[in-house]
Amino acid sequence: MQSELPRHVAIIMDGNGRWARRRQLPRIDGHREGAQSVRDVVRAARQLGLPALTLYAFSSQNWQRPPEEVQALMQLLRDYLIEERPEIMDNGIRLSAIGRLERLPSLVRDPLDELIADSAKNRDMTLCLALSYSGREAIIDAVRAALGAGVPEDRLDENTISLYLPTNDLPPLDLIIRTSGEQRISNFLLWECAYAELYFTDTLWPDFRRADLARALEAYKGRERRFGLTSEQLPVRSRA
Ligand code: FPP
Repeated sequence: MQSELPRHVAIIMDGNGRWARRRQLPRIDGHREGAQSVRDVVRAARQLGLPALTLYAFSSQNWQRPPEEVQALMQLLRDYLIEERPEIMDNGIRLSAIGRLERLPSLVRDPLDELIADSAKNRDMTLCLALSYSGREAIIDAVRAALGAGVPEDRLDENTISLYLPTNDLPPLDLIIRTSGEQRISNFLLWECAYAELYFTDTLWPDFRRADLARALEAYKGRERRFGLTSEQLPVRSRA
């Protein structure tokens, strides 16, 4: 039941603003350094052999931030999608995205759509960006899509809803990491996190690099995942 490596890790990348404030820099400098952590952590995840990594890059609520910050984040996302394209393609990474993507400006949407299409056949790792994403909206959209497809109300069970969620092509979520000392889920992967392990670290996202990911994976290895069973019911290797 417990494998050494999680099949799917999701990260709430928090603390960019605080990182900048501590250095008396504008918030966007924290986001820029955070984008460097994204590059480093994606590379490390691929090298470690993680099958799937989801990054909470922009929530539905983030649209309410000051317009200059939203604009700067959109530009960073665009730069990432353009600059990292060779790295993603050369390393067999499939890019996907979840969220209300139609709200994104075309400066992000165009390179995003292009890279999703071009990397669709890559098989070595999936990198999923949560953009304009809300876990509650994702559940609402899944239920609406299922009903719209003619699923009768009495067939709306867990399996059916999972099928209509945007994460249906990803492995089950095993581990959620949140940086910066906050211990909340903040509307991220609400359905998918049902049995995920949670790992919180005080490290701010711009300081979170390969070694920090390795530490989180090491902590995951030590967890006993019971899925509602007793310890004694589990296969021996999954006991702590
Ligand atoms: C939370 O920190 C972070 C975000 C809202 C944005 C995350 C964006 C990036 C890491 C950079 C761009 C992403 C990619 C994929 C290239 P915060 O601003 O809430 O920090 P604070 O709580 O310290 O203010």
